[in-house]
Amino acid sequence: PRQLGNGHGHTASPLKIFGHAKNKVNEIFKTITSYISESDAFLTGIPEGDNIVTREQLEEVKAFKGKVAGIGEVLSRDHMKVVFFGRTSNGKSTVINAMLKTKLLPSGIGHTTNCFVQVEGSDTHEGYLLTEDSDEQKSIHSVRELAHALSGVKLDSSALIKIKWPKEKCVLLRDDVVLVDSPGVDVSGDTDAWIDKFCLDADVFVLVANAESTLMQTEKNFFLRVSDKLSKPNIFILNNRWDASASEPEMMEEVRKQHLDRNIAFLVDELKVVNRQEAENRVFFISAREALTSRSQGQPGTPSPLLQEGYQARLFEFANFERTFEECLCKSAVKTKFEQHAQRGKTLSSQLRTIMEAVHEQSLQAKNRSITQRGETSSRLQFVSTQLDKLSSEIKDQIKLMVEDVENKVAKALNE
Ligand code: GTP
Ligand code: MG
Repeated sequence: PRQLGNGHGHTASPLKIFGHAKNKVNEIFKTITSYISESDAFLTGIPEGDNIVTREQLEEVKAFKGKVAGIGEVLSRDHMKVVFFGRTSNGKSTVINAMLKTKLLPSGIGHTTNCFVQVEGSDTHEGYLLTEDSDEQKSIHSVRELAHALSGVKLDSSALIKIKWPKEKCVLLRDDVVLVDSPGVDVSGDTDAWIDKFCLDADVFVLVANAESTLMQTEKNFFLRVSDKLSKPNIFILNNRWDASASEPEMMEEVRKQHLDRNIAFLVDELKVVNRQEAENRVFFISAREALTSRSQGQPGTPSPLLQEGYQARLFEFANFERTFEECLCKSAVKTKFEQHAQRGKTLSSQLRTIMEAVHEQSLQAKNRSITQRGETSSRLQFVSTQLDKLSSEIKDQIKLMVEDVENKVAKALNE
């Protein structure tokens, strides 16, 4: 496929780090699982009635297995999520299409997207569609069909449609990225419900603004609510339709500076999510339509009525946005998603350690009791005594090593 400055050229995408981290955390949990199984087998092997291990301790260790399996389940579903917001017709759907390098989402003048549409990768060869009310997979072959499917369903603005799109057709989706398109922030009063439903687990927010006008209060209010509910959300501002500036070249620099100053002031002074220096890397001037046109049809660079004077610079800026965005997305997702798992893994391993140490302590006491019961030289006691000797030396070391090993791995993975 064409690779015009799309951030997926020869250099590895920063998004790959997410996959690596995911595998690594998965490995750690496999190790923890095997430690739990070993501990469980050992504890179950201790003869009952020796008062060395309590029923509660045994059950707790068994319950760890379920907990680890649960974390593994969540882990396998973890992805990087980005949501797009902005006023109607600013070009949200077009931006997503440009990033996917295909005209997947319906776009057009007027109010087009009327509910949330989540695009995610699928291992199938054909794309399909899922609605919230059923498990039926509705097939989609073309954008026209999709538009039809979307318009056929009368949905609430906070309803969600999922588009499962073949990973083989899109690099971005291969790396566990999920993109969420939204209706215009100006069409619904119920934006709080949107935030609760779609934004709490988002890693990055993209505000698609219209460079032909200016940031509107509705857009600002929406993001002010978002940053109220989430601590320091990652927000990018795209001044879309920047191709319009081609018709007024003499005003271009001035307009750009005006937008830039206002966008930065919004991010820094109003939202307080980044400092001034960081904010410069969060604001871009792009033309989603040009990016989509040059990526989805013909040879890149072939003249098209949709490409305005100076389009190369805008295409370059779009690719630049993607690169910066991918780095931010990946970093945030690794941190928020895997740090949680790592913490839970640490807690689990230290709980296991506490139990094993308690068992060790109980076994030492039992050993002392058995020694004081002189005269009783039954083979049973002899057996228990050797068992316990084994426990005190080998197992204690093993537990120590195990916990250190897990902690090291977790710390290493987190650092990476
Ligand atoms: P809703 O779904 O209705 O909220 O709109 P949206 O934000 O998804 O906008 P959409 O992507 O549907 O684009 C609206 C119209 O603007 C379409 O006709 C696009 O072709 C056009 N458009 C999108 N991006 C650009 C751009 O960069 N430049 C120009 N000139 N037109 C654009
Ligand atoms: Mg749309």
